[in-house]
Amino acid sequence: MSLRSPAEAFEKVPTIIFADSAAAAKALAQEVKEIITTKNKAGQPAVLGMATGSTPVPFYRELIRLHKEEGLSFKNLITFNLDEYFGLAPDHPESYARFMAEQIFDHIDIPKANINIPSGTISSDQVFNHCRDYEQKIDSVGGIDLQILGIGRTGHIGFNEPGSSRDSLTRRITLDRVTRQDAASDFRGEQNVPHFAITMGVGTILRAKKLVLMAWGENKGGVVAKAVEGPMTEAVSASFLQDHPDARFFIDQGASRELTRIKLPWLVGPVSWTPRETRRAMVWQAFKTKRPVLKLIDEHYNEHGLSDLLSEQGPAYQLNIRIFNQLQHTITGWPGGKPDEDDTYRPERARPFPKRCLVLSPEPQDAIVGMGGTIDRLIEQGHDVHLISLTSGSLRVPDSEADKFAGTLLELSSNAAKPDEWKAQVVYGKEALSQLDAKGEFGEDTPVLRQLKGLILRGELRDAAQALGLDHNHVTFLDLPFYEQGRYRRFKSTQADVEALKKLLLEHKPHQIFLTGDAADPSSVSGITFRLLISALQACTGEEFANSCSLWLYRGKERALEAHEIDMAVPMSPLQIERKENALNRYSALSSLEKEAPETNRENARNYDSLGLAEYEAIEVFQRCRRN
Ligand code: F6R
Repeated sequence: MSLRSPAEAFEKVPTIIFADSAAAAKALAQEVKEIITTKNKAGQPAVLGMATGSTPVPFYRELIRLHKEEGLSFKNLITFNLDEYFGLAPDHPESYARFMAEQIFDHIDIPKANINIPSGTISSDQVFNHCRDYEQKIDSVGGIDLQILGIGRTGHIGFNEPGSSRDSLTRRITLDRVTRQDAASDFRGEQNVPHFAITMGVGTILRAKKLVLMAWGENKGGVVAKAVEGPMTEAVSASFLQDHPDARFFIDQGASRELTRIKLPWLVGPVSWTPRETRRAMVWQAFKTKRPVLKLIDEHYNEHGLSDLLSEQGPAYQLNIRIFNQLQHTITGWPGGKPDEDDTYRPERARPFPKRCLVLSPEPQDAIVGMGGTIDRLIEQGHDVHLISLTSGSLRVPDSEADKFAGTLLELSSNAAKPDEWKAQVVYGKEALSQLDAKGEFGEDTPVLRQLKGLILRGELRDAAQALGLDHNHVTFLDLPFYEQGRYRRFKSTQADVEALKKLLLEHKPHQIFLTGDAADPSSVSGITFRLLISALQACTGEEFANSCSLWLYRGKERALEAHEIDMAVPMSPLQIERKENALNRYSALSSLEKEAPETNRENARNYDSLGLAEYEAIEVFQRCRRN
């Protein structure tokens, strides 16, 4: 594959966009295989720089596969990890040492003595020596042949937060607030995330002979574009890859979305003006000129590199009207379809009415965050709405909550008029408390604790759903096995998950499904559930409902949809947004992004207004799912 093309003119580091993370992981694992084999033949060790986090997980799984199925040996491999949380012992469930053992080292034949990970437990006065020794050790084995990298939302590589210099070396660093927020779910709350880490420096990383930075999902799109196309700056340490002769970015479609060649292709070369590209260009142009679509004139088209579009589809006013109408037709107060109306230009078909609507929420809060107002409307308009939480969400619940509930249970039992009838509850409460004690703050939850934490969220979701008028018996928890048996960043789905979803679909035979996660990091709960659902739908091919049911994508905590991507815009009245806020308030532990949902809905409305469409209080937006 040639790495440079005119369309990539804006990119200062070779960037390869793969169909998905699995394809990228496979390609990278092949390169590693070649390095190991070549070095082996030369009688030398191969030296690999390793990263942690969710990004490299598919790559590590592929290396394990190469070992188990193709006999690739890692006996001549030496590894250096980028970083470790300061203060965490190697057996701490969230330490990077443990992560590496579980994700790769325990499954391949690398000698333990060849594994190097910065220590999280050295005392402060040893940090300097430890870091200097780490640098020397890298040099003493001939340097790193290939350094694997992920990228944080702050643009960090390793834990080189904004401000890290080009020549920084291995050292202790204070973690950025954003990085700690991103790690909050691993540690069940931001307050538990360590403040410091030991990390290789930018200079250390750039000494590697080759570098590959991987990134998946839309949430990384913005920072990837800054690192690849922006100036080299300490504010985005990944941008220093531009200063390396053999650095590459391996990204998936989601993470490529902010690159100029994807986002503004007309600036880099000829464009095939599909309806979606046309709409994208028109919306961009309107925002850029701060003019409503209907007021764009020839000069605007010419000044913004769109003369080609104008000559192909103009004159301007006709084109403006066409796009205006398309945008206008996305707006509907009838997300389930308007009965007895011509539906030619409506996003959803009129019949059948009422519809069986299945609202799928990866974790218990996602659907209310993404489409609380629309749920409210669907119910009000008489549809048969079922809200399904695909997982219990138990991993989000801090121990303190479980402790509180177990304590309340014991308190209730001790005050009961007939204590005999509460024996089972007393046993359960005591067991939960003693298991909480035994496992320590970050230890893995036992099945009893997982159950208790899941029950707490059940209560919250039912409560939130009720605030939107949805009856308790229309709220179900599916507890998909991949989640109940896994942990964040290292979930593994199986056929059992697909089967559970297929059963759900066959039970409900929905006319409409609302889902999310198409654009999410494929290792996140919503990314995994999205793919599972597509597989389950495929497994239902041939069923009448599967052929005719409409699939609508909403956005939970991922980036909001932009105006040109919207297929259905459901306006919310001031009262409705208040009801949604009310429902969200029922959750005790929403992340800051989730709390911002009503503001995002208001922002959607402002955007539509500035395009020259009607002015609403707030709008929830949806995209038609085309991957059925
Ligand atoms: C981890 C590391 C970090 C991560 C980055 C992305 O060793 O060095 O730079 O690569 O924070 O994390 P994920 O992959 O979890 O999105």
